[in-house]
Amino acid sequence: MRTVQYAEYGPPSVLRIVEEPEPHAGPGEIRVAVRASSVAPGEVHSRSGVMREVLPAVFPVRTGYEAAGVVDEVGEGVTGTRVGDEVFGATAVTRKDANADYAILALWAPKPAAWSWAEAAGATGAVETSFRVLDRLAVGAGHTVLVNGAAGGTGSVAAQLAAVRDARVIGTASARNHDFLRSLGAEPTTYGPGLVERVLALAPTGVDAVFDCAGGALPDLVAIAGDPARVVTVADVTAAAHGVHMSHILPGIPLGPPDPVAAHGLTIAVELAEQGRLRIPVAGTFPLADVAAAHELSAGGHARGKVVLLH
Ligand SMILES: NC(=O)c1ccc[n+]([C@@H]2O[C@H](COP(=O)([O-])OP(=O)(O)OC[C@H]3O[C@@H](n4cnc5c(N)ncnc54)[C@H](OP(=O)(O)O)[C@@H]3O)[C@@H](O)[C@H]2O)c1
Repeated sequence: MRTVQYAEYGPPSVLRIVEEPEPHAGPGEIRVAVRASSVAPGEVHSRSGVMREVLPAVFPVRTGYEAAGVVDEVGEGVTGTRVGDEVFGATAVTRKDANADYAILALWAPKPAAWSWAEAAGATGAVETSFRVLDRLAVGAGHTVLVNGAAGGTGSVAAQLAAVRDARVIGTASARNHDFLRSLGAEPTTYGPGLVERVLALAPTGVDAVFDCAGGALPDLVAIAGDPARVVTVADVTAAAHGVHMSHILPGIPLGPPDPVAAHGLTIAVELAEQGRLRIPVAGTFPLADVAAAHELSAGGHARGKVVLLH
């Protein structure tokens, strides 16, 4: 089967399509014939080499955390999922090899009919991350939450899920994305110098929680929240220096212990999708063979939603 791999750090051109034997589902896992999979910004950073201190590569590296497809093997102990089911999900966090014709999923849910294969492929990471962080921040009805980086693959889902909780959502993005943020249920403002003043003009009594999906602005975000405990970042490795929690799910990295995986979010996301209350914005789709172009789009830092490979 086709897989995506790289054997050295470098630009997207180091990515290769490599034939490998098909994997098989172990206990508690399923195998899917992949219809679509995603390109995650974290993997784009890893391939470039900028993450080598935090997450050193063992070459060759295979890529892909999330996928959507049709179940064709069910591992021992799995109940409630059958061969032929359409699902979306993710590999084990220690595996990440879903940019391939077959993927072994450790976390999955039924694909909502309301989502295309591309949307389903991009859902798992954004949904899981959003539940993990919104739950930790205890975002609920009547709260005001700031999502920094609300136009990206993660922030665009976090903004919708915060709005579904009846929170007031303020989101940051460049001006070209402000109508997009409104369509997600967020009040837009721009990021960059003056952020504290702009947010406090919108919310003069302050915000209850800040979900940072962008990085690079923690002093401002702490000032807006009034307390570092009300800020969680998934994108800023300087978090500890600001007293802010860096939420991640990777064991053995020098960014503090992993948080528990918010697997329950997938079930709720399926219900919301079927009610038409959650969509997964897709910034672009590419054939698997054009994975380098997909990495280019993600690496530009301005994708409006998820970057997806169609298999
Ligand atoms: N730790 C975890 O568990 C975890 C999980 C998921 C993601 N992440 C990390 O979180 C980050 C975001 O992920 P993602 O999937 O949302 O990335 P993404 O889709 O690539 O984000 C692109 C978006 O970022 C916005 N952006 C660029 N610069 C910004 C800035 N300075 N301030 C605010 N927004 C800015 C862009 O908006 P404009 O085009 O309008 O500028 C664009 O919409 C990545 O670093 C990723 O690795 C971590």
